[in-house]
Amino acid sequence: MRLTIRDLQKMRDAAEPIAILTAYDAISARVAEAADVPALLVGDTLGMVVQGRETTIPVTLEHMIYHCEIVARVTQKPLIIGDLPFMTYSISPEQAMTSAARLMQASGISCVKLEGGEYIAPTITRIVNAGIPVMGHIGLTPQSVNQFGGFRVQGRQLESARQLIQDALAVQEAGAFAIVLELVPTPLAKLITERLHIPTIGIGAGVGCSGQVQVFHDILNLFESFMPRHAKQYANISDLMRTAIAHYVSEVKEGLFPSAEHSFTMDESVLQNLLDDNEEK
Ligand code: KIV
Repeated sequence: MRLTIRDLQKMRDAAEPIAILTAYDAISARVAEAADVPALLVGDTLGMVVQGRETTIPVTLEHMIYHCEIVARVTQKPLIIGDLPFMTYSISPEQAMTSAARLMQASGISCVKLEGGEYIAPTITRIVNAGIPVMGHIGLTPQSVNQFGGFRVQGRQLESARQLIQDALAVQEAGAFAIVLELVPTPLAKLITERLHIPTIGIGAGVGCSGQVQVFHDILNLFESFMPRHAKQYANISDLMRTAIAHYVSEVKEGLFPSAEHSFTMDESVLQNLLDDNEEK
């Protein structure tokens, strides 16, 4: 049975840390499910790590539907959360609800994530009241990277730290089932976590959150153009891939691949007939 938002809440209540990972395609989703990841985020980071763009801003609802559908279809157990991309929810609560409903219906995922604090709370309430679970996302919200002037830690000053606490409370009050804290100082993330009753999911927010989320490509070192400080490389898959592919290329060049093991035989008599056909001409 697929996990639900209630299971995440139970984990948080039992102080069991929640390890979430992004997934975008059949391979990442299946591997993460096999490793017992309880929730998969089909993040709009796919704009960067899959599409090779500079930011998440060009990602569209159609892109999200495409990737969410794959991840939902090839998995059985994890909760699947899909990002609402840039400008698909900030024009009005009605626009947000239409986008969220379309993403869910067309892809089969069970909840959405959107970025923003206090100001987006009425939108969260509108979507939640329509029966769609919402995960919030505050701190560094990548869709506003141009407003922030880069991927910077948020809430280091008193004023901005107070605003983040207010944002977290407003998002919870609006009905979100969990909230991502991105690039928030560890003590502030801990404080927010202690003040909320819903799970906080940190990314660059320290160990005091109810759980963590990481980008699939970051922890496996598959995305070589940028490695954020908050990401730990648990394996160096791109090195392995490069070595393996270089080996393949050199074996083809040297005539070592394909060997008999990777080739197919045919009946000798059929071959002889073919050769005879040729001679007759
Ligand atoms: O898009 C994404 O993958 C995210 C995570 C980095 C939290 O929003």
